[in-house]
Amino acid sequence: MSFIDNVVISVTLQNKNNKSSTMDSNPFIYIILSLSLSNFQRSYCQGLNISFVDLPDWDYLMFSQRWPVSSCIEWEGKNNSNVCNMPKDPDVWIVHGLWPTKTGTDGPNDCNSPIHFDPDQLEPILEDLDNYWTNIEASTKPNSFWAHEWKKHGTCASVLPQLNCVYNYFKKGLELNRKFELTTILADANIVPNANNYTIDDFANSILQKLNVTPQIECLSRKQESFISEIRLCFNKSFDLISCTSVGVEISNCDKKKPIKYLKDIPGVMAKASVDEYYIQPEEIISREEILHKWYTVIKFLIWFTL
Ligand SMILES: *[C@@H]1O[C@H](CO)[C@@H](O)[C@H](O)[C@H]1NC(C)=O
Ligand SMILES: *[C@@H]1O[C@H](CO)[C@@H](O)[C@H](O)[C@H]1NC(C)=O
Ligand SMILES: *[C@@H]1O[C@H](CO)[C@@H](O)[C@H](O)[C@H]1NC(C)=O
Repeated sequence: MSFIDNVVISVTLQNKNNKSSTMDSNPFIYIILSLSLSNFQRSYCQGLNISFVDLPDWDYLMFSQRWPVSSCIEWEGKNNSNVCNMPKDPDVWIVHGLWPTKTGTDGPNDCNSPIHFDPDQLEPILEDLDNYWTNIEASTKPNSFWAHEWKKHGTCASVLPQLNCVYNYFKKGLELNRKFELTTILADANIVPNANNYTIDDFANSILQKLNVTPQIECLSRKQESFISEIRLCFNKSFDLISCTSVGVEISNCDKKKPIKYLKDIPGVMAKASVDEYYIQPEEIISREEILHKWYTVIKFLIWFTL
């Protein structure tokens, strides 16, 4: 590690205790800090010399982007008091996550990586994360979404040199979001957020035409309709696009009988009281246990009656 890195690290540590006063009273330190921040981040990630041999193997990466309007409908639908934190630019698809996956499974998840979530590494990219890897769920703890993504997926991804630290992992997600701008890709096939009814094929074909691969498409299902919620692209370990269907992923979870909505705004009716119209209420879902319990009662009655 070079001399300048050592200076920067000691300043950073000092800053943790008394951030504003250190900055204000010593502009020289501030300049050094700004000049060397990227250098510091790079050296942090390169300095790692940790064995990852015990981490589970995986085959490909799934990069999931979400449509914020649908994510918000989902979040508000979970509880009437939930409020959304929308990205600054209302027209962008935002990152959900970058998920290492073993063919035929959903994981691995929550790997026992020696690299733990470190929010300090995100400081240089915090604004981009807020805008493009937005935590829709307002009122949850700051960093909780990113900490969750790191813990569940980043820890397993960290075997890959390009994703070997918290900073690199989140930086890569932002880079892919910029490179594969879904708003533009869809708009080129005339799929734009409006009141139209779309189909799975509309979305899948626009990706196929532009990127020459099949994505995975997720919908949020409601009584009468579905909302496009996520579009996922698959990559091999060299970050080359591959068809998600080529690694056995189902093309979509959307109900083929319902039209798919790609809405521009969150409908007021959903944000407020009359959610009943749109949401399947929990009591409508009769659980297995309840059915078993009913049969148990009937059988008990018959035994009592015949004896
Ligand atoms: C909805 O959120 C409120 C406030 O956070 C909480 O008190 C309530 O228990 C939640 N309701 C459900 C069904 O989770
Ligand atoms: C979308 O489909 C629904 C039901 O299938 C229909 O009632 C509605 O008129 C359609 N909307 C548009 C804009 O085509
Ligand atoms: C990824 O795909 C590209 C293009 O098909 C191929 O050249 C490359 O070898 C693949 N990398 C891995 C690690 O599979």
